[in-house]
Amino acid sequence: MIDIHAHILPGLDDGAQDLIDAVLMAELAVEGGTSVLIATPHGNNERKKARPLSDKDYLEKIKQEFDRLQNELKKRELPLRLIQGMEVLCTEDTVRKLARKELVTLNGTRCILAEFDFDASGIFCRRRIEELIEAGLRPVIAHPERYECVLQKPKWAEEWADMGCLLQVNKSSLRGSFGRGEYEAGWTLIKNGAVTFVASDAHSPYYRTPFLGETREMLSRELSKRKANRLLRENAEELLLSEI
Ligand SMILES: [Fe+2]
Repeated sequence: MIDIHAHILPGLDDGAQDLIDAVLMAELAVEGGTSVLIATPHGNNERKKARPLSDKDYLEKIKQEFDRLQNELKKRELPLRLIQGMEVLCTEDTVRKLARKELVTLNGTRCILAEFDFDASGIFCRRRIEELIEAGLRPVIAHPERYECVLQKPKWAEEWADMGCLLQVNKSSLRGSFGRGEYEAGWTLIKNGAVTFVASDAHSPYYRTPFLGETREMLSRELSKRKANRLLRENAEELLLSEI
């Protein structure tokens, strides 16, 4: 499988706290059947940074931690390929910061993993999406099923998909870990065919882990093996090859 959303890089945000956490997370990912993982620390999100750093210094630190973890996995012969990415909080500044190369996309493609504040209005989100699309990017909306506007009016997420966004649902939502609303919204979007990716959004080896084994079983059971495969691997392969 290919996990397109995981906070595995150590000491940067509210994900892995140190290299030990990160290695444990990588082991769990491999155990669950993941072979490629996009490391997506929070970006443009001061509240989620472990230490206050400017966007430029933070990006530099991301590169350092990426190389450090990659070397560690190589040393331990763990068969997990890491790819660079970021989960970018959408604000009025996002497009400007992207142009200044202070934020990055998924593997340098035109696809950007975009998140919103949980209480952002649907109209605010739509405006930010329009700005990203106008700038030539393709937003991959992180966990649409978790936003208040979608919980109140699920049509918002379908509208974003109609605008050309790709939707990424979290594995934990599908297990009900965030609550009934997120559970129902996640499954409804998937069953309506509006979702392109299911990912871990892993933060730790102890809770919200990157283990995707049971998610694959659940999606195979509820949908079909073929659809599970698309949501957990094939669509991400196309993204990495920049075909979507
Ligand atoms: Fe995330």
